[in-house]
Amino acid sequence: MKSLLFQLPSAQNGIEMVPTKTFDVTFTAVAFTANLLKTLSALAVLLLFFSLTCVPASAQLAATPPMGWNSWNHFGANVSDSDVRAAADALVATGLRDSGYIYVNVDDGWQGKRTESGELMPNERFPDMKSLADYVHARGLKLGLYSSPGPLSCAGNEGSMGHEDIDARTFAQWGVDYLKYDICSYRKILERDAHRNPEIAQRMMFAVFERMHLALQATGRPIVYSVSQHGLSLGWAWASQVGANLWRTGDDIHDNYISVTEIGFAQGGLSKFAGPSHWNDPDMLEIGNGGLTSDEGRTQMSLWSLLAAPLLAGNDVSKMDSDSLAILNNREVLCIDQDPAGHQGDRLWTEGPLEIWARYLTGGAIAVGLFNRNQGYIDMPLDLRLLGLTSVVKVRDVWKHKDLPPFQGSKTFLVAPHGVVLLVLHR
Ligand code: GAL
Repeated sequence: MKSLLFQLPSAQNGIEMVPTKTFDVTFTAVAFTANLLKTLSALAVLLLFFSLTCVPASAQLAATPPMGWNSWNHFGANVSDSDVRAAADALVATGLRDSGYIYVNVDDGWQGKRTESGELMPNERFPDMKSLADYVHARGLKLGLYSSPGPLSCAGNEGSMGHEDIDARTFAQWGVDYLKYDICSYRKILERDAHRNPEIAQRMMFAVFERMHLALQATGRPIVYSVSQHGLSLGWAWASQVGANLWRTGDDIHDNYISVTEIGFAQGGLSKFAGPSHWNDPDMLEIGNGGLTSDEGRTQMSLWSLLAAPLLAGNDVSKMDSDSLAILNNREVLCIDQDPAGHQGDRLWTEGPLEIWARYLTGGAIAVGLFNRNQGYIDMPLDLRLLGLTSVVKVRDVWKHKDLPPFQGSKTFLVAPHGVVLLVLHR
């Protein structure tokens, strides 16, 4: 069994905690001590790997929804190498890494110009991408990068169009473990060439996203492939066929309750498209960015976990209040998100602003979220018959970290304004 979500570092995925070449002619006591320390830290990682359990180990890429951090929501296009290093350090220091937040993803804003031979260089805020990757890997984390199938990214930086192979090779050489590939300027090409014909648009999109998948595959490096086509052309129905491990199901998220819930509650019906190594992506987390109350943050975290969504913290994790950290780092909630069966949840019941969503978990447990989208406190009923449950169930409230009295039939739960009660039911 592996740690709650911690992935085993290996030479294959580029995380080399232990040098392969340990002794050579320059061997000294200092080198020996350094190597010993590295070996001990690798052992510590291994111990962690075997001590915390929630998800069984899997060699499969994105076997459970990817977790980590992404620079966009907080730093935008001005992100820098030092922001990313600080985020990596903070993931370790806060314990988020050990809870499974292992991807450190640099979004739009790292790209510079191409060399004469077509190689894409980082801009002046990223002096050495390989050294950044080494820094991230040395902390038991993985590095993500961003590009676009169009000529330009959404922020107007260099895209990968016509340079897919060389870019994929560059990313692999740097040690990149995750690529977000964002449609951006390719939308204009679709408008120009698809002549408003949805079939042509879908074929074109399929082709460009598959091209990068093949280029990544040709590098031989396992790289999680995140397709960001904003839900266009019903991407959920075909994105796994272009090798995507996750794909966006809608437009950009913003740091407010309306945006989070408009996106989150629009995910109904998509559960059948998700599963291990291929996930619906309702976009990144906004917890800790200042625009959500604690109840609203718990709403995003609960809904995303019921949706088996990728969990990419979008805040400045190096300056986080304790409440945001507690929301991001609730392991009982993370266990729902990372449930190894990978069955995405769906809407069970709705009445005006009240919503109940449920997700079937490994071993017969059921996670249930009661969401109150209203402005006042409400007593919400949960009728177990909606879940086909006729006998007594045991109930765990995962935000309160408390077992509630078992019940049968129907029971009401008090739900805060814009809040949620998230339960795990055991038969
Ligand atoms: C958008 C994307 C955002 C972010 C941004 C960068 O298209 O949805 O998540 O990546 O581009 O410019």
